[in-house]
Amino acid sequence: MNNVQVVRRDADHPLTVPESEAVAALVSAAAAHDSGRALSEQFTLSVRAGATSGVTHLLADAADGALAGYAQVREGSADEPPSAELVVAPRSRRAGVGTALLAALPPGARVWSHLPGAVGEGAAAFASASGLQPVRSLHVMGRSLVDGPPWPPAGVPDEFVVRPFEPGRDEHAWVEVNAAAFAHHPEQGSLTRADLDQRMGQPWFDPAGFILVCPREATDQIAAFHWTKVDPPDGTVGEVYVVGVAPDRQGSGLGRAVTVLGLDHLAGRGLADVVLYVDEENTAAVHTYTRLGFTDREVHRQFAREPRP
Ligand SMILES: CC(C)(COP(=O)(O)OP(=O)(O)OC[C@H]1O[C@@H](n2cnc3c(N)ncnc32)[C@H](O)[C@@H]1OP(=O)(O)O)[C@@H](O)C(=O)NCCC(=O)NCCS
Repeated sequence: MNNVQVVRRDADHPLTVPESEAVAALVSAAAAHDSGRALSEQFTLSVRAGATSGVTHLLADAADGALAGYAQVREGSADEPPSAELVVAPRSRRAGVGTALLAALPPGARVWSHLPGAVGEGAAAFASASGLQPVRSLHVMGRSLVDGPPWPPAGVPDEFVVRPFEPGRDEHAWVEVNAAAFAHHPEQGSLTRADLDQRMGQPWFDPAGFILVCPREATDQIAAFHWTKVDPPDGTVGEVYVVGVAPDRQGSGLGRAVTVLGLDHLAGRGLADVVLYVDEENTAAVHTYTRLGFTDREVHRQFAREPRP
C-alpha cells in the first residue's frame, strides 16, 4: 500500500502515448479477467485520445514501476458532481491500489461500477470498505426478439386506440404526459419541447416507433406511450427508449400493454435484440420488464461518500 505511487495527467501534464497504451493494455487485461469492461465507452475513448479537456487521468504504479491501476475523473456540470471510473490490474488487486486511486479523486467525485456478478459484488465490497455508499443503480436489461420466452399478444381495452406519434400534432400533449408520468424522475420528467424537437431531429427518430395509446373519445390526449429507438437506424438492436403512462391511468395494465406494442413493432422491423435502461428504484418498471422476459445484462452502480451529518 505504501509503495503505490499515483501520478496525475491533465491539461498541464498530458497523458503520453506509451502511458495511453499501457492504460489500454491494463483495461483489456482486466476486461478479459472480469468478463466485462470496467470503463464505459466515453472513458475508453478518452484514454485512446489522451483527452485533457475536463478529464484527469490517474495512473497507479506498483513498486516495480509497472502500471497497477488507473482511474479517470470527468468534470461534472453545475448540478452534477465529477464522475470517475477506476480499474486495478488483476495481478495487483487486494494490495491497496484501488484505495490509493480513490484517495486521489476529488472529494465529491462519484464512482461508477459497470460490472455484474462477482466482480460487481467485489466493487461494492471495495466501495463499502472505503466509506462509499451506493447512490444509484442503473440496470441494462435485454431480451432476444427472435427467441426466448414469448411475450403476450398485444391488446388495449376498447376505450383506447393505438396510433403512431404525429409530428406537428402530438408534441404538446406528449411533453405534458411525460412530465406527469415522470414527475418523480428529474432527468426524464423535465424534458421540454426543445428537448423533444432535438430528439425528433436525430437520424434515429422514427414516428412509426413512437407508439401512442389514446382515449378513443379524445384521440389528441395521450394515455400511455412507448417510444422505441433503433440507433444506428440500420442496426439490429432496438431500445425501449421511454415508456410512460398518465398518472390517472396507471395501475390498469396499460404500461405492460404499451411495452408489448413496442416489442411487436421492433420484432416486426426484423431486429434481433432489444435493450433498455432502468433505475433499480423503479420497481414497477423492473417487474414489468422481468415478466416480459427481460433479464439483467449489466448493472451500473454509482457510489459516493456518505453525506456529512
Ligand atoms: C474494485 C477494485 C477497483 C478494487 O481495487 P483493489 O486495489 O483490489 O482494492 P484495495 O486493495 O484497495 O481494497 C481495499 C479493501 O476493499 C475491499 N475489497 C476490495 N476488493 C474486494 C473484493 N473483491 N471482495 C471483497 N472485498 C474487497 C477489502 O476490504 C479491501 O481490503 P483488504 O484487501 O485488506 O481486505 C478492483 O477489484 C477492480 O479493478 N475491479 C474491476 C473494476 C471495477 O469494478 N471498478 C469499479 C470500482 S467501484
